[in-house]
Amino acid sequence: MHTVIDALRETVALERQTMALYARFSECFASDRKMSEFWFEMARDEARHVGALELVETMLQLRGVSDRVDPSVFDQSAVTRSRKLLEKAANESKAALSIQRALEIALEIEESELEDVVGSLLRSVKQGGEYARFQRLLVHDLGNLSYMIERYCDNPELLQRCDALVNRHAEALSGLVQQ
Ligand SMILES: [Fe+2]
Ligand SMILES: [Fe+2]
Repeated sequence: MHTVIDALRETVALERQTMALYARFSECFASDRKMSEFWFEMARDEARHVGALELVETMLQLRGVSDRVDPSVFDQSAVTRSRKLLEKAANESKAALSIQRALEIALEIEESELEDVVGSLLRSVKQGGEYARFQRLLVHDLGNLSYMIERYCDNPELLQRCDALVNRHAEALSGLVQQ
């Protein structure tokens, strides 16, 4: 059984892998300035998630908190699924990818439960406004992803999936604002 600190560390490692994947895409598509900047911004936001989780971990360590993590807060099987997905994406991106496939991979990762786990951990530790900040950034990022899918992929099903994801996180955010 994990402590909250273990859960934060395990999640940080996956967020770092996501950051590395988006940073790689930024390099792969360097010849298209807008596309490269888009991926860089996605990577930077994952870096912010890493930073937020590490800050929370530091605060908990300073306070000597070593509680067991609540399984409703940290879904181990969701984390395992996300890890497998990220490994598969990292392998696939070793070869040259089309823009369409890179966008599709990003959507698969964002649709995985990883950001839900991050949000759930940040919410549970009630540290400043980290959860609200995270959720706001996520809606912004996913909106950008949706725009890129619309622009570069002639795939209404993909766009619909991304828009559904934006809406789901936007609803979570508006629930927060109303609290
Ligand atoms: Fe993230
Ligand atoms: Fe993400």
